[in-house]
Amino acid sequence: MEKEILLKETEDFVKSILEGDSSGHDWWHIHRVRNLALMIAKSEDADLFIVELAALLHDIDDWKLAGKGSEEQKAQKWLKRCAIGDHDVARICGIIEGVSFKGAGVNTSTDILECRVLQDADRLDAIGAIGIARTFAYGGSRGRGIYDPSIPPEMHTSFENYKKSTAPTINHFYEKLLLLKDQMQTTMGRTLAEQRHDFMRQFLDQFYAEWNC
Ligand code: NI
Repeated sequence: MEKEILLKETEDFVKSILEGDSSGHDWWHIHRVRNLALMIAKSEDADLFIVELAALLHDIDDWKLAGKGSEEQKAQKWLKRCAIGDHDVARICGIIEGVSFKGAGVNTSTDILECRVLQDADRLDAIGAIGIARTFAYGGSRGRGIYDPSIPPEMHTSFENYKKSTAPTINHFYEKLLLLKDQMQTTMGRTLAEQRHDFMRQFLDQFYAEWNC
């Protein structure tokens, strides 16, 4: 299949799955991550086609979105249907598997260039103004409160404990979002993360100032 047609069909497939999502993992998240990933991929001389396909498919099997106990691997099934070769299917699935944040104390750094690119793009969309909006949308979708001063943030050292957390959304800034700047793995990712990180700091300062009158 022609690369352009394959990308367009993948885009339509992903849209059909994420349509109606209100947890911050909607199509527009994918759209932004794809654009960021392609921009970073060019600056790192990564494989653009592999990065773009992985970016499009990176959230459709995400543990945050999948139904409980769901073993379905939608991305892998889709790629096999596209007949792009077993090697590239395994490569893209490996990248997608490596993208997710798994807890403050869980190391997710990688040697695979295309995975580093996509990780940075996905994490950039988790911070800054958009990151703040998505974080509260996600918290709301999971029934989490906004803030409770009596519940301190927790540095999760296992993916299992991170997944189980039901803490208020403000805690998520300390358990994940403010840590991402120092986990960027590309030069462009690090540069873009700085400003977004500072904006979150400003937001938190203002939040506490208002909270405490
Ligand atoms: Ni994502």
